[in-house]
Amino acid sequence: MCGISGCIIKRGNVANILYSSLKRLEYRGYDSAGVSTIYQGQLLVKKDAGKIDEIHSRLNLLDLPGNIGIAHTRWATHGAPSQVNAHPHLDCTGSIAVVHNGVLENFLELKQELEARKHTFRSKTDTEVIVHLIEEYIKIGKKLTEAVLETTRKLRGSYAIAVIYAGEPDKIVVARNESPLVIGLAKDMNLVASDVAALIEYTNRVVFLENGDMATVTADTFQIIRIDTGIPVERKITELNWTLEMATKGGYPHFMLKEIFDQPNVLREALRIQEKYLDLLTEFLDRGRDVFLIASGTSYNACIVGSYMFSKLARLSAYPVVASEFIENYGSSIGVDTVILALSQSGETADVLTSLDYARYRAATIIGITNVLGSTLTRIARAYVLQNAGPEIGVAATKTFTSQLMVLALLALRLARKRGKVSQYEIDEFQDELRSIPQLVEKTLEISNEPIKKLSREAARFSSMFFLGRGISYATALEARLKVMELSYIPSIAYPAGESKHGPISVIEEGYPVFFIAPNDETRKYLIGNIMEMKARGARIYCVGSEGDEEVKQLSDWFLGLPTTHSLLSPVVYIIPFQLLAYYTSIERGYDPDKPRNLAKSVTVL
Ligand code: G6P
Repeated sequence: MCGISGCIIKRGNVANILYSSLKRLEYRGYDSAGVSTIYQGQLLVKKDAGKIDEIHSRLNLLDLPGNIGIAHTRWATHGAPSQVNAHPHLDCTGSIAVVHNGVLENFLELKQELEARKHTFRSKTDTEVIVHLIEEYIKIGKKLTEAVLETTRKLRGSYAIAVIYAGEPDKIVVARNESPLVIGLAKDMNLVASDVAALIEYTNRVVFLENGDMATVTADTFQIIRIDTGIPVERKITELNWTLEMATKGGYPHFMLKEIFDQPNVLREALRIQEKYLDLLTEFLDRGRDVFLIASGTSYNACIVGSYMFSKLARLSAYPVVASEFIENYGSSIGVDTVILALSQSGETADVLTSLDYARYRAATIIGITNVLGSTLTRIARAYVLQNAGPEIGVAATKTFTSQLMVLALLALRLARKRGKVSQYEIDEFQDELRSIPQLVEKTLEISNEPIKKLSREAARFSSMFFLGRGISYATALEARLKVMELSYIPSIAYPAGESKHGPISVIEEGYPVFFIAPNDETRKYLIGNIMEMKARGARIYCVGSEGDEEVKQLSDWFLGLPTTHSLLSPVVYIIPFQLLAYYTSIERGYDPDKPRNLAKSVTVL
């Protein structure tokens, strides 16, 4: 997730406006940044790796004359954070500049075609293909708007782009598919940006572009057309009464809620992860004699989900281990045949890194999944996959958890193909279901939000609660418990439902709240037995189950039905109501869900 912005003004310079918009967008990514303006027919560019303030103190981003410009703050997905990979990217003639937020799926084939036609690529980014394509259309006499239109028709993937061209210094051309984009209308000045936070200082009159829209923006006009047909469309002007703080949170009261609702898009991005990285990890996983999945906190719960996926779909036994226990438990038995897949959102968790250091010393192979390019994990690992989830600001992991699950599912799918131990039908079925997950999560958010908000008023008064699930839903129970407990501070217990009769059941008394994760999968018939056991002892039963499951609904005091999905993907869908429960219960109890006490986003001590 990167941030883009642009500004065109009748008189004066835009550098200070672009600089302040960049600062407002910094929360979307902050490994490198850049600005480009047009002055006296020339394109000027300043860009570098680092935080915006560091870059500004080195390059003085305010010292860029020109009444038109674009800017970018980056969260690397293709290509390391570096000066050359920072946006804006320029064409071969140095007269067209583009900034981009998103991931292009077909950039490799486009790049090969462009290189064959003698274009020189400077960066390792997917973005650079866009500007070279535009250059080709300009060269054959097309105007900028038309050139961008033709170019976007060739792009597959997600993008929000803003383009300027020294030959037509009176306009910014923008286009979007999936990545957000908004136009801001001010007096003698128009702006474009990834989100309202970047514009709200200058105007509250905005136009939200829709997927497949493209717009040509001058200092006092804008025209929107559809990319597929080229036909102009009207979009309404919205007057917002947002504060700057609200704008940064996309209109949500907290980052956590924004990040929960961002999940459908984040999961779409995860589905675009490049196959070559997944294939590399798959190679290593397939070669290991012993395979471990290690992590801390929420990432550890993702490891448990991963171990079920790998085992059931690819017949690969992979053991999930809490990072802080790894050396004590397995340190003496690991060696050259061991493969360790480390999961860490930040890539900096000390418990994980210490285990990896130890394992490296024992010649084990280390591979990783992380959300932060350039993190220590990316430097230690032989190979890694980036989640592409964008920065997560809420301390409690939400979108990065579900995106980890998507990456694990993609790996399981590839492993299954490679190992060939389950039928082609099962593999195809899983792949189809995987593609539908972003949509199911969208639907689940819609279904869950109101009932969970209501339930949180009750939950806020609980002094303790249980979370139970069987099979892969045990991992969902663990993560549900972690979210609710860390944000509401209500001591809670999560257990495999089948194991609950071996001890925890003694806690149950009249009215004690027990939450069951009850998808309609192969564990359901046993889970019903566990529900009965708890009910018989007076527990109050809260079930999140499959839509239309009347039997489980009848057994429950409270029931929420969710869309049906593949059992191995159910955690991605079933965790959603519990993320919301954690959020709303924290609010009900008067706490700040973005900053739970005693916790840190990244724990760099042992
Ligand atoms: C901290 C955070 C958790 C996170 C864990 C692991 O405890 O508060 O939300 O799950 O670290 O973080 P990582 O960056 O390694 O995934």
